[in-house]
Amino acid sequence: MERRKFISALGLITASGAITNLNSMTNNITNKRSNKMAKFELPALSYAFDALEPHIDAKTMEIHHDKHHAAYVAKLNAAVEGSDLEGKSLLELLSDASINSAVRNNGGGHYNHTLFWELMAPGKGGEPSGALADAINSTFGSFGDFKKQFSNAAATRFGSGWAWLVVSGDKLVVSSTPNQDNPLMADAAVKGTPVLGIDVWEHAYYLNYQNRRPDYIDAFYNVINWDEVAKRFDQVK
Ligand SMILES: [Fe+2]
Repeated sequence: MERRKFISALGLITASGAITNLNSMTNNITNKRSNKMAKFELPALSYAFDALEPHIDAKTMEIHHDKHHAAYVAKLNAAVEGSDLEGKSLLELLSDASINSAVRNNGGGHYNHTLFWELMAPGKGGEPSGALADAINSTFGSFGDFKKQFSNAAATRFGSGWAWLVVSGDKLVVSSTPNQDNPLMADAAVKGTPVLGIDVWEHAYYLNYQNRRPDYIDAFYNVINWDEVAKRFDQVK
């Protein structure tokens, strides 16, 4: 699990993955296609569906992970199966300017949700510390000012999409993207590495918050795992 998380943090997890290949070396000897046939997999949550209550309810988490994310993984596998893209890492796929819409939407969906689950944890929230806090304060003025920008980006993203805190070059930037796009994509308006993201598709909040997206955004701050955000920030920097 730790190895998988580490690989995920580097953006390498997805298809086949090193994990599968290392575990099936013997199989590779007799089946040269095994590397290409490895599939992207739905990662397990590291906490229970109800662990983020009352901020995010159990039913939303269950449907979001087991149905929505699972569908992105299944459709991504179907989109790359038998093509030249089979066997490429998720990061390779997302940064490729020529990927088709099925790979873009479902690959983005797989990456974004994998990240999203890891950025949340029960009993978290609060404020960041260390180098990340220093960077947020120097960039936005204060943590409160950062929250205003991030919440505004999430609230004003029209339709379905995501809001991000991105390490772009040597800067921290708040941005948002439509659909399942993300800052890793070649044509992203703010290109870089996302270290925090919030899903503002209605499927992320509608059961509990109905049309009150701002209430869901406010609640999200209670479950942000800032240690995980800081870890990713430190890796990028
Ligand atoms: Fe989602």
